[in-house]
Amino acid sequence: MKHTVTLIKGDGIGPEIADALIRIFNAANVPVEFEEAIAGLEAIEKFGNGVPPETLESIKRNGVAIKGPTTTPVGGGHKSVNVTIRKTLELYANVRPARTIPGAPSRYENIDLLVIRENIEDTYGGIEHFQTPNVAQCLKLITRQGSLAIARYAFETARKLGRKRVTAVHKANIMKITDGLFLECFRQVAAEYTDIEADDVIVDNCCMQLVSKPEQFDMLVLPNLFGDIVSDLCAGLVGGLGVAPGGNIGRDVAVFEAVHGSAPDIAGKNLANPTALLLSAVQMLQYMGLYNYADVVSDALMKTLADGQRTRDLGGSLSTTEFTDAIIANMHPVRHEETVSDQPVRVTHPVPADTKEDWTLVGADVFVEWPGGLPPVPPTVGSLQLTMMSNRGTKVYPGPQPDIMIVDHHRCRYTSSTGPVTTADVLSVLHALEEKGIRWCHVELLNTCNSEPRYSKAQGE
Ligand code: NAI
Repeated sequence: MKHTVTLIKGDGIGPEIADALIRIFNAANVPVEFEEAIAGLEAIEKFGNGVPPETLESIKRNGVAIKGPTTTPVGGGHKSVNVTIRKTLELYANVRPARTIPGAPSRYENIDLLVIRENIEDTYGGIEHFQTPNVAQCLKLITRQGSLAIARYAFETARKLGRKRVTAVHKANIMKITDGLFLECFRQVAAEYTDIEADDVIVDNCCMQLVSKPEQFDMLVLPNLFGDIVSDLCAGLVGGLGVAPGGNIGRDVAVFEAVHGSAPDIAGKNLANPTALLLSAVQMLQYMGLYNYADVVSDALMKTLADGQRTRDLGGSLSTTEFTDAIIANMHPVRHEETVSDQPVRVTHPVPADTKEDWTLVGADVFVEWPGGLPPVPPTVGSLQLTMMSNRGTKVYPGPQPDIMIVDHHRCRYTSSTGPVTTADVLSVLHALEEKGIRWCHVELLNTCNSEPRYSKAQGE
């Protein structure tokens, strides 16, 4: 039986490395039929849209896609094709293996790491605003559902692959609420997988440990932004982005892609290295349960590289087509017919239980624009009292003002000591500020849960 897979050749070197992939799949008799779909520059030129609906339909219909790199035009308001595909199809897990590749220049040996990055949330919602002409803000959203799902995906994958340890990477010492939630969810899920070791590390220490002793880690699971950075760092441990594969996994759909870009400097010159796309294809075949074919492609590729047959980027002299010929010449036939014995890891995002927690509005942080010194905001409005002001997170009122640069953007915390408040009380604060000619630019409501504050304190509070 043949499986249909959507193939997006992409831009720049994309078509050259995709052609190498097609030749190698044909030589290995991989039971995959490609359905070509377009995305990237060609799609923008034809349809004014980097990812046409037909392409998304093809991916959804087939459930599996492999993608070459696409060029994101600078300016012109075009969204990145990759981000559009990930978000539209809710591909919540980005899976990046970092394994030592024979012949790829690297300072390290015997690396076999698997990085699992949450792919949707965090600062990648791209929810950004200028609050004042001088102060910009990006909203970091971490959800319980997203964090539980990525943690479960990591542990299920560990179990499936026989890996021993999953390490959560975070900055919960500073972002106690957002990364704190990520870590809390990780620990909750870890408790269900007693056969797999679970621990955590702060992201800065993680980076230092990775470059000094990478073999100490087995699997990493990270929120989106740290995952983006650390997965590239891990690619650097094993020879760089030119040999880094990746998979974007959703509930019913997965898209595999090389991590590198469209390399316009060498496009059309028969110089591109197809290794990263081929390794992504190996990851794809494993996802599809076609392990024997995955081994055939991977073994031939590794043997070719180990023999010193390489493209120019890895210090060799072979063209894309010569390198592809060499891989095909090193290919052994599939030893026995494939039987698909297992299913890819599938995780359903949990629906949070109705906990009936005592969620109570107790005040608001009102951000105001005020040039020079502390803003003369009213100390009391109705039942709400001004209890704290901070400048870029550092407390400047009450008490002595620290010796910091004061930016024209202040957080004024109004809370009630007499019990719950309403949003009408908060609106009264905004009106009172306007009456005094003080411009407010942002409001965050302050809630408690079972009397515990669900908001952070200021530095120095
Ligand atoms: P790039 O990865 O395309 O190129 C960086 C350097 O690495 C270049 O010197 C290039 O020749 C070399 N290189 C990359 N892949 C190679 C390969 N397979 N074989 C041999 N050499 C290779 O990064 P750059 O120049 O920053 O981006 C170019 C375009 O690619 C941009 O439009 C960018 O938006 C897009 N891009 C797309 C990605 C994707 O679709 N997954 C990821 C990263 C960038």
